[in-house]
Amino acid sequence: MTLKKEKKKQEQPEERQRWSVEDAKELYGVDRWGLRYFDVSAKGDVMVAPLKENGASIRVLDVVQEAREQGLHFPILIRFQDLLRDRVERINGAFNAAIDEFNYKSIYRGVYPIKVNQLREVVEEIIDAGAPFHYGLEVGSKPELFAALAFHEDPESLIICNGYKDHRFIKTALIGMKLGKKVILVVEKVEEIKNIIKYAQKYKIEPQLGIRIRLSSKGLGKWDKSGGDEAKFGLAAPEILAASNLLKKAGMADCLKLVHFHIGSQVPDILTIKKATREAAMYFAKLKKFGHNLEYLDVGGGLGVDYDGSRSTFHSSANYSLNEYARDIVYNIMDICDMEQVDHPVIINESGRAVVSHHSVLVVEAFGHIKKVPDRKAATKPKLKHRLLEESWFTYTNINPDNPLEAYHDALHLREEAQTHFGLGLIGLEIKAEVEKFFWLISEEVFKHYRGAEYIPEEIMDMEYTLSGQYLCNFSVFQSLLDHWGFGQLFPIMPLHRLNEEPTEKGTLVDITCDSDGKVSKFISHYEEGVDTLNLHPLNNKPYYLGIFLTAAYQDIMGDLHNLFGRVNEAHVFLDEDEEAGYYIEETIEGTTMEKVLGLVQYSGNELARLMKRQFDTAIKKDRLRPNEGMRLLNEYEKGLKEYTYLDLL
Ligand SMILES: Cc1ncc(COP(=O)(O)O)c(C=O)c1O
Repeated sequence: MTLKKEKKKQEQPEERQRWSVEDAKELYGVDRWGLRYFDVSAKGDVMVAPLKENGASIRVLDVVQEAREQGLHFPILIRFQDLLRDRVERINGAFNAAIDEFNYKSIYRGVYPIKVNQLREVVEEIIDAGAPFHYGLEVGSKPELFAALAFHEDPESLIICNGYKDHRFIKTALIGMKLGKKVILVVEKVEEIKNIIKYAQKYKIEPQLGIRIRLSSKGLGKWDKSGGDEAKFGLAAPEILAASNLLKKAGMADCLKLVHFHIGSQVPDILTIKKATREAAMYFAKLKKFGHNLEYLDVGGGLGVDYDGSRSTFHSSANYSLNEYARDIVYNIMDICDMEQVDHPVIINESGRAVVSHHSVLVVEAFGHIKKVPDRKAATKPKLKHRLLEESWFTYTNINPDNPLEAYHDALHLREEAQTHFGLGLIGLEIKAEVEKFFWLISEEVFKHYRGAEYIPEEIMDMEYTLSGQYLCNFSVFQSLLDHWGFGQLFPIMPLHRLNEEPTEKGTLVDITCDSDGKVSKFISHYEEGVDTLNLHPLNNKPYYLGIFLTAAYQDIMGDLHNLFGRVNEAHVFLDEDEEAGYYIEETIEGTTMEKVLGLVQYSGNELARLMKRQFDTAIKKDRLRPNEGMRLLNEYEKGLKEYTYLDLL
């Protein structure tokens, strides 16, 4: 027997205390990732307090129920708009507090990068909540700029234009400047400057420019390619000099107002942020001394979200808080500028992930449970006579503390033998099925024997995953959890109810796409890399709802149409003291219908219906269908086209 990995001693069943909601909170890590926005009620339901202690707490399932009454089907995405507002206030509050604390001699002007979630309702809410702080917008493409220009009205707040720019991009930004907006064009490559100079002269406007610096400091984590020598964007030192000379030659040295960097989204380690900030501040100081009237230092995005609550440098975590982040940025910029004796710049940051992540919850229904291990009631002596069955039964009934690993190896061998016999036609399906049944029963029994053991062989440890079942969930990983599929980012997932009941099953989640990658099989845990299964409740013929949390950054917006599952239904919730429930659903947005999603791949609903009608007409002519029946079925087809792409489980 190989004893490879050490495993934490688990409690024996008899030692276990009665399950409480506190255990559920601990198990799912609610206090670690929930930032006090999420909690579990004494009745075992997930609650959300969008304004933390400053507002009401809502039972998530009440909102779901109301959305259902308004006709929305699962999956449903719920946006808590007050939570979004709270995040905007907190990020501005954190920077302003740091500025006060260090007696920093300038101000903070944050911008929301709309790529993180471009939904109009999200952007509008952020603009509204950010108005007292002159909180602006960041865009990285032409469509984002077109949206931002129209929705931005505060002449004090900024529009930062990142990304590669063509003529239309530059002209449109200059139109914004003509309207009196503070639009800053951040140069990503030297050639852009020539176009900017050309159009600025044509439009008779003095543009405000920034340059994105390619820092040598690199982020850690999944988005670390945004910084360092291999970065796609930004100017290295020689290019910065070339840009500076171009501007000076055009008499536009004073137009360079901003130094920008972005070392990647979700930077897990604060040390990276400190280092990058100091490096960028040095660029700022040197360029200022080089004859440019710089006013702004833009530290980009990167502020991490602690998805798994581990407060570590793991990619789905961050080892620092918002306040620490803001203090480090303010302090390090100040330190370098004081050292270099240049005025403190206006600090811009472009955090989106940390602003929006928490405000939406995706609610999915688990509608089936695929179990490998049969019910123990099925463990009766086989009626069929066969050596493989006799040995299976013997192995199963003779597992004891001295031989669990041996029993497991015997079961493995029996299963393999059964497979070979079946392949050769020596046994039938019934015997194969019975051997497999005992294989799983033996495995489960063996696994139980190791509970609480100090050392557990690796093959037994793996059983935690192999014995687990699969919960079928009505959603698409590709539409709603793309970063989990793409590179294993973890998200907090937990049942929204029954949390006063011990979740005794272990499972993974599988979605309804026809793709074996359409699953979630890594979950947050105390262990850094996450765990392979989620503790869930046995299904009980009643609806079972799971919440997938912290999905509003990127996931809500980047989803793809794999299998043509479209955007999900949304309900937008506002707190309101005058409402009996303490909140109301301000708006529902219907997810994509089949007709719409088919339209995106060039099928027209009318054309489909016409083609179907032709086939029904032929079937009627050939007496395969009666006219009435044919027309009724055609109506069904047409009705279906207007419906939601996900399963209607009612
Ligand atoms: C230039 C720029 N600014 C801001 C952001 C948003 O950063 P975060 O996701 O860390 O909020 C990004 C995203 O990668 C970005 O590319």
